[in-house]
Amino acid sequence: MNKTFFIETYGCQMNFSDSEIVHSVLVSAGYSAIENYKEADIIFVNTCSIRDNAEQRVLNRLQEFSFLKKKKTHLKIGILGCMAERLKEELIEIQQSVDLVVGPDAYRNLPNLLNTVETGEKAVSVLLSEEETYAEIEPVRVGDNQVSAFIAIMRGCENFCAYCVVPYVRGKERSRDFETIIEEAKKLFEQGYREITLLGQNVNSYHYNDVNFAQLLARAAEVNPLLRLRFATSHPKDLSDELLETMSKYPNICKAIHLPIQSGSDAILKKMKRKYDSAWYLDRISAIRRYMPDCSISTDIIAGFCGETEADHQNTIKLMETVGYSSAFMFKYSERPNTFASENYPDDVPDDVKSRRLTEIIDKQQELSLKSNQADVGKTFEVLVEGVSKKSDKQYFGRNSQNKVVVFDHTNEKIGDYVHIKVTDCSAITLKGSRHCELQSSEAIQNK
Ligand code: 5AD
Ligand code: SF4
Repeated sequence: MNKTFFIETYGCQMNFSDSEIVHSVLVSAGYSAIENYKEADIIFVNTCSIRDNAEQRVLNRLQEFSFLKKKKTHLKIGILGCMAERLKEELIEIQQSVDLVVGPDAYRNLPNLLNTVETGEKAVSVLLSEEETYAEIEPVRVGDNQVSAFIAIMRGCENFCAYCVVPYVRGKERSRDFETIIEEAKKLFEQGYREITLLGQNVNSYHYNDVNFAQLLARAAEVNPLLRLRFATSHPKDLSDELLETMSKYPNICKAIHLPIQSGSDAILKKMKRKYDSAWYLDRISAIRRYMPDCSISTDIIAGFCGETEADHQNTIKLMETVGYSSAFMFKYSERPNTFASENYPDDVPDDVKSRRLTEIIDKQQELSLKSNQADVGKTFEVLVEGVSKKSDKQYFGRNSQNKVVVFDHTNEKIGDYVHIKVTDCSAITLKGSRHCELQSSEAIQNK
């Protein structure tokens, strides 16, 4: 009988996308996926190292899996992803139930490594590659979402922001063959998907032969006008006018940009090695507004980086107000071993101060999100229907181009349809509305 596997994924969208590659590699080698981890012959945990609490969560979960292994001795446990890369053999020392440790560039080798593990040995494969992009491996889309899919267009990062572990665990930046990306987009559209998010640590620096990111995005948008395109993540230093112009030209390229600021203080941005200052960032915001007045802007913010003063923190709050973000991911600074910051600056903002600043940032964002949503009340948006609302099965939800969740009363629409919804109410998190039938699709698109 086929051996069965289960993959549990932590962290960013890239990790979820990688799990789809792993899935594909394993199925091609004759393994079968299973939904209940208790019944699996092999449990994989695809891990994240971005902050210490992400690692702690995985370590706690591993305890549960090792209890299971005591009862079920043939069970094998594999650690994939960033923690595998960061801790290598040490993971087996910390947690002896672990059989297999595989870094993000070694997934092709999983079937061989599993053969080794079957003999009772442990296996560790953590070499980073300068070329691996898994270009021709067709990911197996897992989960319930039949509308929206990710395509990884590049891997790695060479920005070496002072706080960040990513360049150490994901290796050098490399872009995936452009044709394979377009082929994958076409196939997904034919399978019924209506939204694709192009993924990379810094998509703006994508380049394959002479194709840059703006050109790739345009080609992907031309696959079909009914296929929506999104992308993440952008680095402010590389956000070009060419990209903004391309976004403005194609109605099916969503009007939403995730542009991590990290801090509103120039002194902190410099220490973080972000390679831009607040003036540069605000110039990019003006450019976005110039090309696309209706574009939503979201961000990432770190509270309590090394040496951050109260005045630095206030500058972050001020910058948030100036930009008027529609949403944000907000974190307490977490020192990561071997990064530039951990080697060169003391982690000197006390934890209670970090927590208080983070709360103030979250409160400010809550206010800005509500304001941004309130400004949409009365407007009509084209919404891609994604599923049944969690709160009531009489309601559906989807997203507008600006990536805002819109909840509306279900009539006869199907998942994957585009509908026009007039917003009548909102909270800080969602827009609420009803079908607006008079508006024709082309008008709606011009309205965007
Ligand atoms: N501590 C806290 N947040 C971090 N991020 C990256 N590294 C750290 C760290 N050491 C945040 C950044 C980044 C997001 C993915 O995670 O805001 O944009
Ligand atoms: Fe980390 Fe900076 Fe690379 Fe983003 S751009 S992954 S924050 S090093």
